Amino acid sequence: MGLRRNVTAGIALVLLLSFVSKFSQFRTPTFDASKTTPHPSVDLVRYPSGIPHKFDSQGNIQPFRGNTIIAFLYRFSQARFHQQLVDLYVKLDASHMNNYLYVLLPPSTWHVTFFEGVYDKIREPGRWPDDLSIDATMQECNSLYTNKLSSFDLQTDPPYHFTFTNFATLNRSGISLHLEPSAEDNVKLRSLRDRLSTLLHIRAKDHDKYEFHLTLAYMLRYLTAEQQQELENLLASSLQAIPKELKLHAPEFCTFEDITTFRQVLHLRTPPAL
Ligand SMILES: *[C@@H]1O[C@H](CO)[C@@H](O)[C@H](O)[C@H]1NC(C)=O
Repeated sequence: MGLRRNVTAGIALVLLLSFVSKFSQFRTPTFDASKTTPHPSVDLVRYPSGIPHKFDSQGNIQPFRGNTIIAFLYRFSQARFHQQLVDLYVKLDASHMNNYLYVLLPPSTWHVTFFEGVYDKIREPGRWPDDLSIDATMQECNSLYTNKLSSFDLQTDPPYHFTFTNFATLNRSGISLHLEPSAEDNVKLRSLRDRLSTLLHIRAKDHDKYEFHLTLAYMLRYLTAEQQQELENLLASSLQAIPKELKLHAPEFCTFEDITTFRQVLHLRTPPAL
């Protein structure tokens, strides 16, 4: 009786151990790009932040509906800045790292986000308006925001002055330009963000620490030290050519179906003087 119990316990232990070892093998965080397959339940920790919502791990654009308040980088009104970014884009596009380490955003989408809106797929406290039903459609959210924003007073007249300091957040999310607002415009923009948060009933966790940036590409995978170095060298070769000063115009409320298609709904503005 005692023996049989020991045998049974022994078998159970062996089974448990083999299960644990299989499981831990499965969890070993080695990464072989050729073996990954796009899957919605992709292990988030193994990929930079744009995956799986905005792109799959192969760089295919994913449906990702939402709305946002952004200032576009315009080819004509910001010609010098735009041209230098196009030169960098051409280099990044031609690199063997393209579509392997990162995926580029089309120049027609280049923008600086002033205030991040709502994402259909991310209905969390702070990210989904608390004055709208959690089951409402994205369409309903867009209509609500369009109504609210059409009578919103921007209060501060553009342009807004930014300084391009360096490239930012390489490994964890993508290739972007860090943009520092002038001291005076920083005060205006922080106040604008606070008023938008109140109006639209959302407040992201990083609301107060939000950093302005312009994203050129999303990372498809984490970089090794060598890859990071190679990419940094490529970016450094363009650093001096990009103008330091950038003026941005009035932000626009946009809706989108995925991260590359923006529909411009309205310009935020100050009411015309009477
Ligand atoms: C990129 O981030 C990942 C995940 O945090 C990390 O494992 C990897 O070492 C980082 N690469 C570099 C070059 O810092």
